[in-house]
Amino acid sequence: MKTNASWGGRFSEGPKEAVAAYTESVSYDKNLWQQDIRASKAHARMLARQGILTRSEGETLVEGLDSVAEEIRSGRFEWRPELEDVHMNIEARLTEIVGDVGKRLHTGRSRNDQVGLTFRLFVADCMTQWQDKLSQLVERITDMAQLHVNHILPGCTHLQPAQPISLAHHLLAYAWMFHRDYHRLADTMHRVRTSPLGAAALAGTTYPLDPVSVAEDVGFESIYQNSMDAVSDRDFVLEALFDADLVMTHLSRLCEELILWANPNFGYIRLSDGYSTGSSIMPQKKNPDVAELMRGRTGRVTGSLMGLLTVVKGLPLAYNRDLQEDKEGFMDASHTVVTSLSVMEGMLSEITFNTDRMEAACRKGFLNATEMADYLVSRGIPFRQAHHITGHAVALAEQKGCTLEELPLDELQKLDSHFDDEIYAVLDCHAAVRRRETPGGTGPKSVHDQLDSLRDWLGALKD
Ligand code: ARG
Repeated sequence: MKTNASWGGRFSEGPKEAVAAYTESVSYDKNLWQQDIRASKAHARMLARQGILTRSEGETLVEGLDSVAEEIRSGRFEWRPELEDVHMNIEARLTEIVGDVGKRLHTGRSRNDQVGLTFRLFVADCMTQWQDKLSQLVERITDMAQLHVNHILPGCTHLQPAQPISLAHHLLAYAWMFHRDYHRLADTMHRVRTSPLGAAALAGTTYPLDPVSVAEDVGFESIYQNSMDAVSDRDFVLEALFDADLVMTHLSRLCEELILWANPNFGYIRLSDGYSTGSSIMPQKKNPDVAELMRGRTGRVTGSLMGLLTVVKGLPLAYNRDLQEDKEGFMDASHTVVTSLSVMEGMLSEITFNTDRMEAACRKGFLNATEMADYLVSRGIPFRQAHHITGHAVALAEQKGCTLEELPLDELQKLDSHFDDEIYAVLDCHAAVRRRETPGGTGPKSVHDQLDSLRDWLGALKD
């Protein structure tokens, strides 16, 4: 192989074929072509503004980069693996189109700061897409919850029946997780949208660059403070991957519940045929494969995060080629997040809730035991003691094979003289839900407050 045109001056032969194949990144970093061209156009305009290139040279470069973009967009562009990466492929083609002035584009720049800016633009674009999908999912969940403020089901702790809750409240717990994910991304975004261009290879450069104007040109908020940090920092990818992983982790928890709820022993939901699969041997089966795959795919994103943390952990300053390993894991993670959020939104839109099953399930597991204890407290008994008396009532009901509300009053009065007829209204599960109006509680007023906040937020996003 001939030496690489960009850096081959001091080499008498090019890399061995296997080495070229081992080190190239264009097979996947070509996905960054739009961001690379955006960054290069900003760099060329700045060079011209600063008088480092003439105005007409600057214009030629910008127009040439637009032509390259057009070729790539239309599929006419020929990617050449021997040119290593997206940056050198685009620069080489630019020079073919505009002639020698193309060789001036890289003035005052290194691929180290170039790839930094390019990838930051890419990560920011992906994160914006994740945020769009997150807000659509929150809207879907909010719409669903609105219909189920008065439907109840057993709320669990330790996956054991605990207290009755409204279905809306249960669903909204996930809306808030995804709402937090959205804001976590917005926070990370400030650190992603920082331009490293101007750091050059590692030490800054002798040309009178204006890095702030480059940052403004690409729509970023700030620039680096230290050129060595600028070219070796991959915190922005790690943070984005963590945010992505948390989105997947939240999706995975929701998947786990959908899988449980679809099991006929729960029977709380029916997944639509379009979001289920069958078994090749058991004709009766309807499997929640979509939810299972999503739960499983969370592992890929965790893997990408762990992978990059491991890449970065022992690196000395400044740029090291190891950092090229930041891209594939991120791209895979981004694809996983975007497709999972869309598929979850679609799957939820076709779920049918069996609210009768949920209501019936509230009769099992003594979900209203806390109500009995609170009732005794209202009659002046200290909570610890009320807890103990109620425990006896539960044991008695268990022994008789009945519910707490099926225990006759005289039996209850044998346990404690404070019991009277009012206990039976207190034990009603709907009433139990209605009483829980503390902020963020499952009571209908609290749930409506949650719905209102989410609606306000979604409305503000659309404005
Ligand atoms: N393809 C490289 C990357 O993704 C670009 C930077 C290469 N710089 C260098 N000096 N080898 O990290």
